[in-house]
Amino acid sequence: MQTRHLSIFFIFVFGALGGLLFGFDTGIISGASSLIESDFSLNVEQTGFITSSVLIGSSIGALSIGSLSDKFGRKRLLLFASILFLMGSGLSMTAAGFVSMVVARIILGFAVGSASALTPAYLAELADAPHRGSLGTMFQLMITLGILLAYVSNLGFLHHNLLGMRDWRWMLGSALIPAAILFVGSLILPESPRFLVEKGKVSEAHDVLRGLRANTDQDPDQELADIQQVANQPKGGLKELFTFARPAVIVAIGLMFLQQLVGINSVIYFLPQVFIKGFGFAESNAIWISVGIGIVNFVCTILAYQIMDRFNRRTILLFGSIVMALAIGTLSVLNFTLSVQSAAIPTMILIAVYIFGFAVSWGPICWLMIGEIFPLNVRGVGNSIGSAANWIGNFIVSQFFLVLLSIFHNNVGGPFAVFTFFAIVSIFFVIYMVPETRGKTLEQIEMEMRNKEDVKQ
Ligand code: GLC
Repeated sequence: MQTRHLSIFFIFVFGALGGLLFGFDTGIISGASSLIESDFSLNVEQTGFITSSVLIGSSIGALSIGSLSDKFGRKRLLLFASILFLMGSGLSMTAAGFVSMVVARIILGFAVGSASALTPAYLAELADAPHRGSLGTMFQLMITLGILLAYVSNLGFLHHNLLGMRDWRWMLGSALIPAAILFVGSLILPESPRFLVEKGKVSEAHDVLRGLRANTDQDPDQELADIQQVANQPKGGLKELFTFARPAVIVAIGLMFLQQLVGINSVIYFLPQVFIKGFGFAESNAIWISVGIGIVNFVCTILAYQIMDRFNRRTILLFGSIVMALAIGTLSVLNFTLSVQSAAIPTMILIAVYIFGFAVSWGPICWLMIGEIFPLNVRGVGNSIGSAANWIGNFIVSQFFLVLLSIFHNNVGGPFAVFTFFAIVSIFFVIYMVPETRGKTLEQIEMEMRNKEDVKQ
């Protein structure tokens, strides 16, 4: 029994490895970019473009992968994504100049975007209803672990030109290890039982479900019957997105945009720069600030893993929105009223509180919910749309944060006032728009959403 449980746990860890690469590849550039800039003699705009090229690739990857995953299956496309991860990591490690680096980062971005659209649906479809919250949180846990590993790798390789290779090449190249593990994992992972039923492979689906539900009190036969019932619903193809699935589309886009517009990546990507420019910290301390953020973010996400199936998703989201709004609202006021010296320490503490608020709620739940709320026959496309909204929001925040900061003469209170506004909007969005999904099977959620739309039409 122990072994069976362990192996199911590993399926989820492997399945979520795409998250680790997502976190690693977006986090690593914060330490590597200035080194690449000086090695390739780049100007600031070129360096900025190397950073954002991953986000452009991710938006494209997220958008294009969904309909393919509804056609070819989640597992096969995870394998495809892992090959792109290997290619992108290898190419960025060996890039000869600006153009080849941008190409490599776009390929990596494509892989990251694909993984972010594939993994939430895949994990939700494999999990049983009582544990879907914590198992789905595994994706965000892996993202935060990836970010932390990236910061640690930056710290470890900085100024160590091992075997005659520059430090930044080692930093970028270290992504090859998780990419290789994901590649091997994708070869042995099971296909999603829901996808198999949708394609008429019922007995294969039954086998997968029997394996996954062994030693749990879930009945695989009943689950299979429920999945079949949903799979037999009339199909509208893409039209479904604008009819039955319309509420899910609105919720997914709203959740994903807000997850970014509360400004989390201004902290994840730029906090060291904020402390250098705004508070006069020495550059050598900056990388330690990153490691600190990475640890708080990861540890608080472990907490999220523990609580996810004990409280309603809506309650946790509301809690997170309120904590974030209070923390960054106060941060903003303090930075406009106190002197720079007196504001530095409270700012650090309030940012830790803000990360806590995000990490236990909006961080994991948005990725979890896009896997849950779409009807089976458009789940892949739906996840693509939600995930692309996330990457576009990320791109907007990353492009405008430093601009906003300079408009406010490096006073961090300025951009954080804007993020506070969105944290407050997020409270109302949860109250009026977000459905509760905890404890329900994917099929129950789908039936409830369909019935609601039926009543309206
Ligand atoms: C979420 C966000 C991602 C962010 C991360 C930080 O996964 O989607 O953009 O970097 O949280 O933990």
